Amino acid sequence: MSLPTIEEKAAYVHDQFERIAGGYDRANDVISMGMHRAWKMRAVSQLVDVGGPGRFLDVCCGTGDLSILLARMAAPGSTVTGLDFSQNMLEIAEIRAHRKLRKIPPQTILDFVRGDAQNLPFERNSFDGAIISFGLRNLTDLQKGLTEMARVVRPGGKVANLDLGHCQVPVFAPVFSAYFGKVVPVLGGILQNDKKAYTYLPESLSTYPKPEKITEMFENAGLVNIQHIPLALGTVALHIGTRR
Ligand SMILES: C[S@@+](CC[C@H](N)C(=O)[O-])C[C@H]1O[C@@H](n2cnc3c(N)ncnc32)[C@H](O)[C@@H]1O
Repeated sequence: MSLPTIEEKAAYVHDQFERIAGGYDRANDVISMGMHRAWKMRAVSQLVDVGGPGRFLDVCCGTGDLSILLARMAAPGSTVTGLDFSQNMLEIAEIRAHRKLRKIPPQTILDFVRGDAQNLPFERNSFDGAIISFGLRNLTDLQKGLTEMARVVRPGGKVANLDLGHCQVPVFAPVFSAYFGKVVPVLGGILQNDKKAYTYLPESLSTYPKPEKITEMFENAGLVNIQHIPLALGTVALHIGTRR
């Protein structure tokens, strides 16, 4: 299988997530062995500490698990917006948010918006924090996505990116590479009847920049105090920066 061209990428990614939305959460749990929940909790805990209620944006929110986590972990009275371009993913997010309503403080507002991560439908300085989780890799223009997130966050607010890393740990790196390249497509075929989508996943990592490059892209977006936090032996990378 070959990766889509730049021109094809947005439509290709959109079709893929529309197709796999129904089984996305179960596949995610199986493939990450449930660990994505802990990674997301770690990322959210870095973002919500703004000394009171805040306004938060979850870009490429998918089925909304991280948006709901933000709504639960942020101070009561916060506002959380999840944004995605896949209608099917957003429909699941809405249903899930409704199911979890009792766990979200009543003063907190959670809503979902359909839109493009590379052209966010918000004014400058609209949020105290913005996060993208396992979404950046899917954008056509990664730098544009980060620059947009920085634009809509107020000076002093935070921008976070949680995505796959490039594991460098000897012995473990080839094991991870085999798991991701060979086992994950098979799991995707079994769980989602969509081996193609889960072949794209490891292939998309081959063109995804290394953590040092992501740090550079954060700088280019106007972010400072950038931290790279490797998780799961570097197979996952969390980046956090502060808007200048
Ligand atoms: C791998 S999923 C991640 C979902 C969720 N954030 C998570 O961590 O599980 C990537 C999501 O990015 C969305 N997406 C990809 N490109 C996008 C774009 N240009 N604008 C908005 N959403 C996009 C897809 O529809 C999909 O829901």
